[in-house]
Amino acid sequence: MKPETVTVELSDRSYPIRIGCGIPGDPLFLCPHVKNKRCLLVTDSNVFPLFAGKITEAVLNAGAAGIASYTFPAGEESKHIGTILEICREAARAGLDRKSVILALGGGVTGDMAGFSAAVYMRGIDFIQIPTTLLAMVDSSVGGKTGVDLPEGKNLVGAFHQPKAVLIDTDFLKTLPHRQYLCGIAEIIKTAAILDADFFARLEANTERIRSMEPVFTAEMVKRCCELKASVVAQDEREGSLRAILNYGHTYGHAIESASGFTMLHGEAVAIGMRMAADLAVHLGVMQREDADRQAALIRAVGLPDRADYHPETVFAALFKDKKALDGTLRFIFTPETGKAEIRKVESADAKSVLEQNGNA
Ligand code: GLY
Repeated sequence: MKPETVTVELSDRSYPIRIGCGIPGDPLFLCPHVKNKRCLLVTDSNVFPLFAGKITEAVLNAGAAGIASYTFPAGEESKHIGTILEICREAARAGLDRKSVILALGGGVTGDMAGFSAAVYMRGIDFIQIPTTLLAMVDSSVGGKTGVDLPEGKNLVGAFHQPKAVLIDTDFLKTLPHRQYLCGIAEIIKTAAILDADFFARLEANTERIRSMEPVFTAEMVKRCCELKASVVAQDEREGSLRAILNYGHTYGHAIESASGFTMLHGEAVAIGMRMAADLAVHLGVMQREDADRQAALIRAVGLPDRADYHPETVFAALFKDKKALDGTLRFIFTPETGKAEIRKVESADAKSVLEQNGNA
């Protein structure tokens, strides 16, 4: 596949998303971002042994003044403010200054924490996203949302801090476990469902290629998702309104994910959350039953779950821990028709009734 570039248009903070295979070895792309600069590579204990050597070599070949690394234990449990302090201390020990660069090599947790560290270290330095999971490639590495969790809820502390570049090497997916791959597919279905009916139909027509993680179709999906997300972020960087549609499936999804004690993966929870949001939309007369069934059919056809065992009261309580509902008002994203999205306030009794229909009290 020939490398392709999608640009996130944010005037003087615009940046390229470079998509291809084997591209970290391309010093021309990295060069303007790292040449003569001190770099800190942030990664987790799963990714470090797989790809840190390859990226370190590529960064040095591109002319960096030096590169140190910080590795944290893989998993959402590491996503707290203590890890940010450790990353910033490592940056200080490695002599990073205001012109230095942090590189985020990994999935969403790594990108969110490396990005937040870059946002606060010396009041803000540059960072580059190098996502290694499909989910991070199609969603979390693009758009500049960074942060960590609190015991009170997910992503409650953070900053908007756009990367200088996003480097997507689809070769990284060769070692990605199938369950993790499907988590990215959940975000891809989400993006198609809210923004692009033709893309949604293309996913429906290619479920076999998705199930087999076929690289050519994967690259096509990554590119289309990056284009769609880049366009939303360019219109509403700080989630004043439009950007919130990217949270489709996340209202129930986050609550189910946290009620599961994070044994369920984020993308699995989003898939279930989309199916339940569609049920709620049908219940409220916002969506046709046949459109909701179409979404559920696609979710199942690619091998994602669309149901979970949960206790409705526990998930209902978790709905109000989400930062979007801390004022006590529940807001849901609905897809009144495929490829279109809207945001609505919902009465808690309606949200609860869908939970009760699906749960196992
Ligand atoms: N993942 C949702 C967003 O970036 O806005």
